[in-house]
Amino acid sequence: MSDSKLSRNWVADHIARLPRSGIRDFFELVNTMDDVISLGIGEPDFATPWHIREATIYAIQKGFTSYTSNLGYMPLRRSVCRYVAERFGPSYDPATECIITVGVSEGLDLALRAILNPGDEVVYHEPCYVSYAPSIAMAHAIPVAVVTKEETQFALDPAAMEAAITPKTKVMLLNFPNNPTGAGLTADQIKTIAVPKIPDRMALLASGELKAGVLPDPLASLAVGQGAVIVADDSTHPEFGFSVISFRKAVIDANPEAIKGFLAAIEEATALLNADAAKYANLLSDQKLVPPPLIGKFQVPPFPIAGVPTEAEWNDALAWAKGKGMLTVDVSYADSVNATLLP
Ligand SMILES: Cc1ncc(COP(=O)(O)O)c(C=O)c1O
Repeated sequence: MSDSKLSRNWVADHIARLPRSGIRDFFELVNTMDDVISLGIGEPDFATPWHIREATIYAIQKGFTSYTSNLGYMPLRRSVCRYVAERFGPSYDPATECIITVGVSEGLDLALRAILNPGDEVVYHEPCYVSYAPSIAMAHAIPVAVVTKEETQFALDPAAMEAAITPKTKVMLLNFPNNPTGAGLTADQIKTIAVPKIPDRMALLASGELKAGVLPDPLASLAVGQGAVIVADDSTHPEFGFSVISFRKAVIDANPEAIKGFLAAIEEATALLNADAAKYANLLSDQKLVPPPLIGKFQVPPFPIAGVPTEAEWNDALAWAKGKGMLTVDVSYADSVNATLLP
């Protein structure tokens, strides 16, 4: 081979850019010392229990050494799914929803490479397990770290995670209790993380990660078609929900006639829709507002006519907001509600 062929750098650029693993360097160093215990590698301080070692040796002796299914040995997948269901609750189908990997790192690597396209972003919180950023880079994606700090016991700030999300974000890695900081999320923090985007809420309901959610139609009808149960719906309980159109007060004061005209146009459209819903059903599908499984089936519900809340409804909503700590002062009905703009 010529010198120029030999001198070529064969390592791919994105691999050459990966930093060395500090934890592994430390491990190698500690291994050379007799009187030092390594706390750097997260593994149990006991040998694998004897019955497991014995079963492994026996399997080898019996010649159980051939390929298994790519997903892993079925009796093991069944045991794993049973253990997860009994211990943590979620139930998975061992035939289609479980894969055996050699540790978490392989599972994470497979998942990231299956999901990520080059240039996609992955948001995670740092300090974190050492392989996150390299695994993301090896999938040709972009690691986006959100820093957690010692001053706040490395607590994760959901707002900081949210701020790191861009249209390119495809994956969010959350690790609790965190390695290496030990920080967790309290039950309260988990409960208060909202899912603002309706399609995300729908996806989480469908995957079983959310037990309940508020959905507008036609997504509510789609969820029902997929097995969801209606707990409350605002066509039978109009007191539970209103569609609200809001304007800032300065806009109303500056443009009262335009706003009256706008509300009148909505009222006219509502009357037309309510008078002949079938005639407008295709309009929703044409605008791609009806999910494909519901096309041709979705019944457009009657739309409410415009109105303002009654004083009792206003006080009820205020009492609820105060009870939740969202409001601390009284807001008067007379100063807030003005029916003169209604059509
Ligand atoms: C948060 C986290 N992710 C991934 C891993 C890697 O796990 P494994 O050794 O099973 O590949 C560890 C190991 O300690 C970890 O703590």
